[in-house]
Amino acid sequence: MKTIHDIKSMKSKRKIVMLTAYDFPMAKLMDGIVDVILIGDSMGMVVLGYENTTKVTIQDIARASGSVARACKNALIVGDLPFGAYDNEEDALKNAKILLEAGAHAVKVENKPEIIRFLVDKGIEVMGHIGLTPQTITNFKVQGKNEEDAKNLLELAKECDKAGCFSIVLECVPESLGKKITESISCPTIGIGAGIHCDGQVLVTHDILGLFEMFKPKFVKRYAEIGKDMKKAFEAYAREVREGKFPSDEFSFH
Ligand code: KIV
Repeated sequence: MKTIHDIKSMKSKRKIVMLTAYDFPMAKLMDGIVDVILIGDSMGMVVLGYENTTKVTIQDIARASGSVARACKNALIVGDLPFGAYDNEEDALKNAKILLEAGAHAVKVENKPEIIRFLVDKGIEVMGHIGLTPQTITNFKVQGKNEEDAKNLLELAKECDKAGCFSIVLECVPESLGKKITESISCPTIGIGAGIHCDGQVLVTHDILGLFEMFKPKFVKRYAEIGKDMKKAFEAYAREVREGKFPSDEFSFH
């Protein structure tokens, strides 16, 4: 099983590979291949069909974390604290414990270095998330493009690092800022649309598989078109049932 120490010690040595999973079969397929599995609140959009991530509940993430944990023998499992789950210290602690009890090894927090420090002081491992942070942002564009925004993001990264994060997701920032932040903090950075210089990379699994077709951000590379293959299978099944060809002898009991 990958440990927090393993992930931290990969900084500047070996790229960290992270993907999202929300259920048992997906996690089983990727365990042993990726280093970290994130039960992201992206599940709100790619699984639950919401317009954004803000309706995802702690119970949604906890249920999915349990499914992922039951599938994994190797990956480090990180559960996302969803919108509204860490507005204050009491909620943050209560909800982080729910995810850990469900099977996650660590939790992810968007921004909020003070909450990160509080959780770390309570012995909870925290992954930070800065840049384009979908729970609170309204401007879904590349972040930190002008000098002042870039400076603020660098400061925030340093604060999260000092607060004790074991890694920080950097979402949708220019490659040069990804590099600067990566070189300026002690914990590993895991980029999503943050360029090649980050210590690791994460993408949403449904995006790389072509399972979520509503939109595709520029930083997503499609490694497969599973959605199209699934549709072909559904069509073939429907045709054979309608034509009375399935179930044939091979699939029947006598
Ligand atoms: O919710 C999620 O999947 C995430 C990743 C995109 C980092 O936060």
